[in-house]
Amino acid sequence: MKRIVILLLLAAIGCGKGKQQPKTLVMVPKGVHPYYEPCFEGFKDAAAKYGVKVEYRAAKAFEVPQQVEIIEDLIARKVDGIAISALDDQGLVPVIAEATQASIKVICFDAPAPSSRALCYIGTMNEAAGYAGAEALLPLINNEGEVAVLQAGLGASNLNDRFKGFQRCLSEKAPNAKIVAREDEQGKTDITVNKTEALLQAHPDLKAIFAVSAEGVPGAAAVLKERGLAGKIVLAGFDDLPDTLAGIRNGLVSFCIAQRTYKMGWLSVEKLLDAIADKPLPKVIDTGVLIITKDNVDTYMQDMKKEFTQ
Ligand code: BGC
Repeated sequence: MKRIVILLLLAAIGCGKGKQQPKTLVMVPKGVHPYYEPCFEGFKDAAAKYGVKVEYRAAKAFEVPQQVEIIEDLIARKVDGIAISALDDQGLVPVIAEATQASIKVICFDAPAPSSRALCYIGTMNEAAGYAGAEALLPLINNEGEVAVLQAGLGASNLNDRFKGFQRCLSEKAPNAKIVAREDEQGKTDITVNKTEALLQAHPDLKAIFAVSAEGVPGAAAVLKERGLAGKIVLAGFDDLPDTLAGIRNGLVSFCIAQRTYKMGWLSVEKLLDAIADKPLPKVIDTGVLIITKDNVDTYMQDMKKEFTQ
């Protein structure tokens, strides 16, 4: 009898230990890309605060099957939560359903998958941000002329929404401004460079280039600089990669729209932990954007991080 009690006690202690294992939360970006570095910084910092383990699993290329494969592997490993930047909406529906069925909490950050069972989207309100980008661009081209758009893949909801907002603003506010090209540069700087060169050839009257994804501005900036077109073609777009900020400082780039990437990562941990604790999640969390020009390029980052350092 005594032996049975001791065994039961040992088993109970064992179970208790099992329960106290730190949760494993995984960030899955669209693919390897510097844009996601601050997202993961926020994810890691929040993980340190809440005592959870985190991992980062990035596909080599922005390709849906690679993202699906990563999630399948995480399901097999029974991780506790996944925060994914969705490369595609429909293409991820089955694997997100599979993860959900396996009791893994899945949320989207940066890029939503609205048709999927992901519990929540944390990020930019993309249509509105695309609209705001066009509103900031139009005065710089006197509301008229040829505009080209660079986009990293044509399947992601976040980028398509930005394009939609950009296009809507042009048609509402500047009927004489025209989108003459929308190029898929697949999230790669070398492809952006090639596509920009081709754009300049095909559209000698181009007045502006607007990038709805992060590599667009630095890739196009390199081409404009080399061709002596700095200042002749207006260049602006999403994200605050270091080369984009350098372009703003030296006048090659008019403005950028900085997303609150650190905040996306931080909140992803908090919301995954809420989901694990069976707390309800809001469907959408707007992290907000900031328009960066020469005026605030050297101060905005400190302001953005303030709320997390208190
Ligand atoms: C987007 C990301 C994308 C990144 C690189 C950002 O603007 O929010 O979804 O992966 O650009 O293309």
